[in-house]
This record gives sequence, C-alpha cells and structure tokens, in this order.
Amino acid sequence: MIKVLFVCLGNICRSPMAEAIFRDMVAKRKLEDKISVDSAGTGNWHVGEPPHSGTQKLLTDKKISFEGLKARQITETDLSAYGYVIGMDAENIGNLQQLAGNTPVEHVARLMDYVPGSEVQDVPDPYFTGNFDEVYAMVKEGCTHLLDEIVERENL
Ligand code: 4NP
Repeated sequence: MIKVLFVCLGNICRSPMAEAIFRDMVAKRKLEDKISVDSAGTGNWHVGEPPHSGTQKLLTDKKISFEGLKARQITETDLSAYGYVIGMDAENIGNLQQLAGNTPVEHVARLMDYVPGSEVQDVPDPYFTGNFDEVYAMVKEGCTHLLDEIVERENL
C-alpha cells in the first residue's frame, strides 16, 4: 500500500481538505486498493475535532465527503509509516524536519512543490486569512499533480 499523509498546523483546515480531495481523486481513479490517505497536524490544539466549518462548507459545496475526518497530531512513527508526507507550508516542513531528527526526510515535501512552475510555494492558512476558496484551488491543483507523480513513480 502506498501511504500518503497530508500535514498542516492544526489539522482542521488545510490538511483535512487535502485528505478529502485526494481521497476523492483516488476513488475516481479506482486506486483505493493501492493508495491510502490520512492527515495530521504538527500542533495538538484541535485533536479530536472535525474539520473547521469553512473546510466543511467548501467540501459540502464541492460535493466531496469529509466523513470520518478527525484531527490528530503527527507522531514520529508516522514519519516512517508514510511513503509520502506532504506539508502545506515551509513552517510545516521545518516542524517535520525537527520531528525527524537525524532520520532522512526525502519523502517529506511541500504540496505546491509538485506543481511545475508554481509561483507560490506555501498554501496560506485560512484559519487566519478566512479564504477557503483560494486554498481549495491550490490544494486541488497540488493534489492533481501529486497523484500523477505517484501513479508514474509507483507504476500504478
Ligand atoms: P490548519 O489551520 O493548519 O490549516 O488546520 C490552523 C488551524 C488552527 C490553528 C492554526 C492553524 N490554531 O492556531 O489553532
């Protein structure tokens, strides 16, 4: 099984949105038996909570299920259990590198790094900006490229 973990700060806005969108894309391409998807936060403030109301509203509007999503904090074990650990911004990547210590992190990357020629590298935090539509557009684009890359690299 190819395991993908999306990571943001609180695990209530961006990474659950990415998880829901990617899960939907994986299902539409009939790859559920090959790719599993999860998300986690580097912080622990919202552990156990469902996605933020803004993420819920957006996913509902786009008819994408967020069933079962509940915030959790990333652990050191996650870093070795997941083949693709995808952060939303530079701060997430820094926190993941710190968590990894001396363990190599070649499988840790920023979502927008998968978008060729992207002018923005960080997915802005809608918890502070309030702009969930902007995040959706970026996450959708990033997830599309990420899935293409996984399909090619893993010969799916
Ligand atoms: P997220 O947004 O990292 O996209 O889930 C945030 C949610 C909560 C907080 C920060 C960012 N917070 O500070 O509680």
